[in-house]
Amino acid sequence: MTTGLDVTTTHEVLLKVSVPVTVEGMIVPSDEEIRALHHKYAPTRKAFDLVFTHCTIVCAIAEQLIDRSGFTLDRALVRAGCLLHDIGVYRLYDRSGRLDHTRYVSHGVLGHQILAEEGLPETLCRFCSHHTGMGLTRKDIRDQGLPLPEADHLAETVEEELVMYADKFHSKRTPPVFVSADTYAASVARFGEDKAIRFKELRSCFGVPDLAPLVSAHGHALL
Ligand SMILES: [Fe+2]
Repeated sequence: MTTGLDVTTTHEVLLKVSVPVTVEGMIVPSDEEIRALHHKYAPTRKAFDLVFTHCTIVCAIAEQLIDRSGFTLDRALVRAGCLLHDIGVYRLYDRSGRLDHTRYVSHGVLGHQILAEEGLPETLCRFCSHHTGMGLTRKDIRDQGLPLPEADHLAETVEEELVMYADKFHSKRTPPVFVSADTYAASVARFGEDKAIRFKELRSCFGVPDLAPLVSAHGHALL
């Protein structure tokens, strides 16, 4: 299997897992199958471009970290998790194509629902519902009154941790931006010391990605 995204194009990213692969008895969809799922649920081309491009960037960041760290983990699973993790965002668009930012925190659970309805295994569904911020606990949900089922939504496997971590280095805000490790570290502290510590742990575990090639390829600013 060949992996790695061609980042020379923004929207029509050349995807390189052309056939489904089997991981421990579970079929992981190919890049084209994942792209087709994005097309199926994206309400507009603009939404597709925003969300799918972000997912491919997160994938490129995760794969760079895998290549640099030499970690033994399931690369195909990380790739699929990155490409699928934000698919639930599409369910937050209204009929006029506006994104409901007030319910944004629920996009992970909505993505989990989409993938479950599509018959994808729980292992893949979890990448959606377990990547938000540095993870959400039952207590976070209760204390902050978040519109989520009261449960711990915490990355558990190394693959889930990497998808969650890589996601922090790019934001779909308008316009989209890359986020440095120091910028994210400064901003996550407002969510609590436990979140800041978690990011610090992941940072020392996976390292800091070199965002310069992606900044240059996509033309998004680096904060
Ligand atoms: Fe994301």
